[in-house]
Amino acid sequence: MKITKICCIGAGYVGGPTMAVIAQKCPDIKVTVVDLNEQRIKDWNDPNTDNIPIYEPGLSEIVAEARGRNLFFSTEVDKAIDEAEMIFISVNTPTKTYGKGKGMAADLKYIELCARQIARVAKQNKIVVEKSTLPVRTAEAIKSILDNTGNGVQFQILSNPEFLAEGTAVTDLLNPDRILIGGDTTPEGETAINALVDVYANWVTKDRILTTNVWSSELSKLTANAFLAQRISSINAMSELCEKTGADVSEVARAIGMDSRIGPKFLKASVGFGGSCFQKDILNLVYIAKTYGLNEVADYWEQVIIMNDHQKRRFSNKIVQTLYNTVADKKIAFLGWAFKKDTNDTRESAAIYVADDLINEQAKIAVYDPKVSKNKMLNDLDYLETRPSADNKDYLNAFDNAYEACKGAHAVAILTEWDEFTTYDWKKIYDSMHKPAFVFDGRNILNPKELEAIGFVYNRIGS
Ligand code: UDX
Ligand code: ADP
Repeated sequence: MKITKICCIGAGYVGGPTMAVIAQKCPDIKVTVVDLNEQRIKDWNDPNTDNIPIYEPGLSEIVAEARGRNLFFSTEVDKAIDEAEMIFISVNTPTKTYGKGKGMAADLKYIELCARQIARVAKQNKIVVEKSTLPVRTAEAIKSILDNTGNGVQFQILSNPEFLAEGTAVTDLLNPDRILIGGDTTPEGETAINALVDVYANWVTKDRILTTNVWSSELSKLTANAFLAQRISSINAMSELCEKTGADVSEVARAIGMDSRIGPKFLKASVGFGGSCFQKDILNLVYIAKTYGLNEVADYWEQVIIMNDHQKRRFSNKIVQTLYNTVADKKIAFLGWAFKKDTNDTRESAAIYVADDLINEQAKIAVYDPKVSKNKMLNDLDYLETRPSADNKDYLNAFDNAYEACKGAHAVAILTEWDEFTTYDWKKIYDSMHKPAFVFDGRNILNPKELEAIGFVYNRIGS
C-alpha cells in the first residue's frame, strides 16, 4: 500500500516540524497539517517563514521549500481527514488538572475528540498513527472509539512515538537514532506498519526503523524519557553532594562519562530539567504503575521528579541566602526563560519556578530571553496560580537585551544555556550592577575564573 496523502491533527511542537520534514523528504506525498487554533494555522501560513509559530533552527527553510508544494496548513480538519489514507494524531496530552489522576495521569480528552472526529468523518479505511506520547494501551481506547462510532470502515492503529528534542528538532528528524513503529501483528496490521516504514524509508535506512507491537512502542517512549530524566536527576543529586564535599560535578560527570557503559551525554548538572515531556511522561509512568498496584515501581520513578523539584527550589533558596537572606525589592536579572536553548518553548521551564519562589520573597525579576515574549512569561506565572495576575505584572519585567535587564541588578541568574550569554561583555554588565554583584549560573556555562577576576561573586551548580 502506497501512501499519497497524510493528514496530521495538531500543528504544535511535534506535528509542525515532523510533518515539515516528511513533506520535504517525500515530495510525492501531500501532507496537510490541521489545527483548531486558527491563529496558529495563520502563523504557519505567514508569507515570511521566519514568523512561523515554532522556532527551531533550520525549520523555516524547510517550510519555505515545501509549503504550497506538498505541505499545507489548514483549519479544515474534516476535509483533511477525509482525503488522507494516513492520519497522525499530534495533539497535546497534558497532565490532568482535575478528577481522577489529577496531577499525574495524561489528559486524553484531546485524543478522544480526535478519535471521534476521525470516526465520524472517515468514509474509507484509514491508518491512524499515534504520534503524541501516550499512556500504554491508549491505542486500545482509540480503536474502541473508532470501531464503535465509525461508519463501518476499517482502522489500523499504529504507535509511532516522536523522539525529537526541541532546539534540535530538524536534525533529529533528518537523522533519527531510530524510528519506532508499533502495530498489530495481524496481516492488516503488518500492511499498515509497512506503509509507514515506506514513508520513513525515503530518508532513513531500514536498519534504523524498528517495528514492534503497539504496547512495546507506547511503553518505549515513556521509558526513554524516564531514563533520560533519571540521568539528569542523578547528576543533580550528585551536584548537591559536590557542593558540600569540595568535589566538582563537571569533573565527576566527565570522569564517569568516559566509562563507555555510562557514556558522556545527558550528564550536565543544571537548575533542573523542564520541557513538556519529562515530567509529564514520568508522572504518567508513575500513575500507570500505581494503577497496577506496583507501588515500589511508582515510588522509584517518582523520585526523579522529587529530585528535580528539589533542585529548582534549592537554586532559588541559594539566591535568597546568598543575598543576605532577603531579596525584597532587589532586582534579580534572569538570563533565559525557555526550558533549554534554541527554542521558544517555556513549558515546565525551571525559570518559571525559580521566578515564582523569588517573587514570593518580593524580588523584582528582570528577564531577557532572545525568543520568549513578556506575555508568555506572565502567562507561565499566572498558570501556577500562586498569586493574582496583577501582582505578577508588578514583579516581572522583560527587556530586549541582557545589558538592560542587568542594569542596577543585585544578581544575575542564568536559567537557559543560550550561546549568546557566553559572548557578552561581562565587565560592562558588572559595572552596571549593584555591588557586590552576584552570578548564579544555573547552567554552568560561564567561565568562573573570568567572572571572578572581573569582581563577580560567582556561584555555579555543583562546586
Ligand atoms: C525530550 C527528549 O530528549 C526527546 O527525545 C523527547 O522526544 C521529548 O523530550 P526535550 O524535552 O525537547 O526532549 O529536550 P531535552 O534536550 O531532552 O532537554 C530536557 C530538559 O533537560 C531541558 O530543560 C534541558 O536543559 C535539561 N537537561 C538536558 C539538563 O539539565 N542536563 C542535561 O544533561 C540534558
Ligand atoms: P506538542 O508539543 O505535543 O506538539 P502542542 O500544544 O504544541 O503540543 O500542539 C498540540 C496542538 O494540537 C495545538 O496547537 C492544539 O490546538 C491542537 N489540537 C488539540 N486538539 C485538537 C483537535 N481536536 N483538532 C485539531 N487540533 C487540535
